[in-house]
Amino acid sequence: MPKTTAIYPGSFDPVTNGHLDIIQRGARLFDEVIVAVLVNSEKAPLFTSEERVEMMRAILKDSSPGVRVDTFNGLLVTYAQKQEAQVIVRGIRAVSDYEYELQMALMNRRLAPGIETVFMMPSEAYSYLSSRLVREVFRLGGSVEGLVPPLVEQRLRTKMPRKS
Ligand code: PNS
Repeated sequence: MPKTTAIYPGSFDPVTNGHLDIIQRGARLFDEVIVAVLVNSEKAPLFTSEERVEMMRAILKDSSPGVRVDTFNGLLVTYAQKQEAQVIVRGIRAVSDYEYELQMALMNRRLAPGIETVFMMPSEAYSYLSSRLVREVFRLGGSVEGLVPPLVEQRLRTKMPRKS
């Protein structure tokens, strides 16, 4: 059987337990999962791409054979083709995600018909979780314990002054 490589792309600003849940599920399905951290997004990220990659690598270290972390810039499908990936994995939490994800999946299919997008659902425990909400809750003094790995909590503490 030929090897199946999947790209799991995102900003991961920061990585949440929902992302990790999808990575673990992907690692069970595909021979190789490349977690691809977007470098030059239009949004100004809280964590630099170097910080996001370093955190992701530290968190996934040892626990995930078949998973590696990389960065990408520009069109996702161009990156996926360079990696000879057959699949793009995206997590879908709720129906509200679907419309945007469908648009991206169909545009990516138009650009690269040989690459298939696979939608995966995280555990329902993470169905409301997003990096944006983690940043906001943390900034305003709320607890993000159990929603992000402890390393991310630590880094949030050093990065963000808290109102409390
Ligand atoms: O999970 P995120 O942070 O919303 O990730 C969005 C991401 C990185 C998957 C998307 O913005 C992307 O693919 N950007 C790369 C540029 C690109 O290929 N745009 C066309 C997509 S249809």
